[in-house]
Order: sequence, then C-alpha cells, then structure tokens
Amino acid sequence: MSNKPIGIFDSGVGGTSVWRELHAYLPNENTIYLADSKNAPYGPKGKDSIIALSIKNTELLINKGCKLIVVACNTATTNAIKTLRSTYNIPFIGIEPAIKPAALQTKNNTIGILATRGTLSSELFHNTAALYGNNITILEQNGDGIVELIENGQIQSNEMKALLKAYLLPMVEANIDYLVLGCTHYPYLMPLLLDILPKSVKIIDSGEAVAKQTKNVLKQYALENTQISTPKNEFFTNGNPEVIKQLLGETYNVKYLDF
Ligand code: SIN
Repeated sequence: MSNKPIGIFDSGVGGTSVWRELHAYLPNENTIYLADSKNAPYGPKGKDSIIALSIKNTELLINKGCKLIVVACNTATTNAIKTLRSTYNIPFIGIEPAIKPAALQTKNNTIGILATRGTLSSELFHNTAALYGNNITILEQNGDGIVELIENGQIQSNEMKALLKAYLLPMVEANIDYLVLGCTHYPYLMPLLLDILPKSVKIIDSGEAVAKQTKNVLKQYALENTQISTPKNEFFTNGNPEVIKQLLGETYNVKYLDF
C-alpha cells in the first residue's frame, strides 16, 4: 500500500483528458502531471527523439517519488513504452487507439482513426490494426496541426473547424460508423466533433480504459493508497500554465517548471 503519487506525462496539455478519467476513477490517489508542452507535438518527431523525451519525463517523475507512471500520450506509448518498461523498475500504463472495441462493434465494417503521424507509423499501431482489422476497413487520418492549436488554446478557432472538416468529412463519405480518437489531446474537441459528424458515427477514446487498467495494476502490485486524506494533485508544465487552467479550471495547482 502506498501514498506515493501516480505520475502522468504527455507531450503537452492533452493528457489532462486522461488525468480527468483517472481522478474520477481513483479519487483517493495523489497525482503528479507533467506537460512537456515545450516539445509538443511529439507526433512528427522520430522514434529516437520520442524515446529520449519519454525517458526525460519518466526520470523527473521517478525523482518526484512516483510509484507508477501513466504515459498519457499515444505517440509516446506506441514508440517508447517498451523501452521504459525494460529500463525502469516500476509499472507503466500506456494508451493506444481503441481499435479493438471499434472493430468489434462496427456494423458498417468501416472505422476511422484520427491520430498523429508518430502513432500511425508505429509498429505497435500496425500490429494492433492487423490483429483486429482483418475483416474491416480502417481509414487512417493523421491529425497534422491539431495538437499545435490545442497547445495554443485555440480549440474553438475557425482554423480548427476547417482542419477537422477536411480530415473527417472524407471518412463520413466512406461510411464510417466509429471514429477512434488516437491522441489524448482530441477528447477536448468533442463539441466540435459532435457538430461535424452525423449522429450515426460513434466516437471512442481510451481514457476510461486507462483508468480501469491503472486501478487493476495498482491492486496487482499492492500499490493502492489506502490512507483516507485529501489527495494532492499537482500539475507541472514547461509551457504556459494558463492553457491547463483553461482546460481543467482555475482552482488547480499548475506550476511552470523548466525541464
Ligand atoms: C503529440 O504530441 O503529437 C500528440 C500526443 C498523442 O499522441 O497523444
């Protein structure tokens, strides 16, 4: 049993969508969130750079005493989690596009995936798509430019609306009935997505599955926090703290940290 914090990192602010699910599911746990906004987006970077950045984030969280790390970034998970697991002696939870539930539930046999180039080109993504996408059509779309706009606090901008229409309407024309959000920044686009997509298209992200998996792993390693006290939730960013406050609310403790 441990009251040490759970560490969570992302290339920027998007992983706070995963933190929300974790906090709702594990309200008793202390957490430390790290937003590497200075280096966002990870999506267009090569595998070696993504691994190096993931190692830097992991070491910072381990130095802050974290007992488990959630890699709340699809691009970092698909490119670096294998290295992290083989290098450090604590459990890691990753996030991957939810291809499996979409592939199992599609009635049109056609699903769409919106993710970064780094995720779509990764071996882990290809293996998962091959495993579950046998008898269906998977339409892949890279979301170039979306993460940058979210990091700049421009979720509702006309530029974002135009990008999303350009990326999603061809998938709608191709008759998808599931859209998988393969980047932790994208759940913040939900109001826009609901405007653009017809009601027949269901949207899936992986945040809740990550929260459930984290709970299982904490139990498995006897790492749950059983102390009844108000949990501490800290947020560190090497970008602008206001962007996280805009997403989560002013009451959260978001600090600038040079890392
Ligand atoms: C990015 O940094 O490009 C996006 C993060 C993600 O893949 O979840």
